[in-house]
Amino acid sequence: MIKFVDVVKTYPNGVQALRGINLTISDGEFVAIIGLSGAGKSTLLRSINKMHSITSGKLFIDDIEISSITGYDLRMLRRSIGMIFQSFNLVKRMSVYSNVLTGRVAYHPTFATLFGLYPKRDKLLALESLDTMGILDKAFIRADQLSGGQQQRVALARALTQEPKVILADEPVASLDPITTVQVMDDFARINKEFGITIVANMHHVDLALKYATRIIGIKDGLVVYDGPSTKITEDILVNIYGRSLKHDELLGE
Ligand SMILES: Nc1ncnc2c1ncn2[C@@H]1O[C@H](COP(=O)(O)OP(=O)(O)OP(=O)(O)O)[C@@H](O)[C@H]1O
Ligand SMILES: [Mg+2]
Repeated sequence: MIKFVDVVKTYPNGVQALRGINLTISDGEFVAIIGLSGAGKSTLLRSINKMHSITSGKLFIDDIEISSITGYDLRMLRRSIGMIFQSFNLVKRMSVYSNVLTGRVAYHPTFATLFGLYPKRDKLLALESLDTMGILDKAFIRADQLSGGQQQRVALARALTQEPKVILADEPVASLDPITTVQVMDDFARINKEFGITIVANMHHVDLALKYATRIIGIKDGLVVYDGPSTKITEDILVNIYGRSLKHDELLGE
């Protein structure tokens, strides 16, 4: 469970990116966050795993108030949350398998992972995740030799290997072609259903957000302006979120 209570985030330059967010995301949900560029979507996502701290309000993960946690507790929090980026964030020169194995880093002392000393269970888990993502045959290829879609699958395999409760995805398909986009979104849906992992994804493709997520959170100027089922989204709601009607290609996130 992720719970925001009056969360405000003001960056050091004075920009108020979140201006009082209240929402609760339950375990196993597939949530898409939509809104204009600069609305605060990435800021909201990044406050969940404390990639940055919030200015005021309270943020709970499973009833633990995370703004005050540090050290061991923070590492435990981050361990339970996988993160997927638009740019995949793989170590380009490393093999796919080694990249996926880094999903286990937070489970071991630094020296062990530095020397690649992972227990057998971790290695099996990494291979299993690659298999789940349908890219086991790519395990020993250098990450930068894969297509964008394949790299995002590696990133998803890495996240799965982490055995997270939640996966946060910041525009996971923004740099992929339309066909690969659908494949990667299908992967998210499968992970959500098969493993019960909560998915919170920032999306610019409104049509995909409506198709894949069961719940839409619309953000505008740092505030939630819509929070409800994707089936209840109307043209008027989109106009409210985006300030005007969207043209066909804008709905497709182009
Ligand atoms: N590190 C930062 N320092 C200062 N201001 C920031 C920083 N990161 C974001 N902002 C500002 O905070 C506001 C919200 O930004 P955020 O990146 O959360 O928006 P977004 O909805 O993710 O946009 P996009 O769709 O373009 O990714 C914007 O006005 C942005 O300029
Ligand atoms: Mg963003």
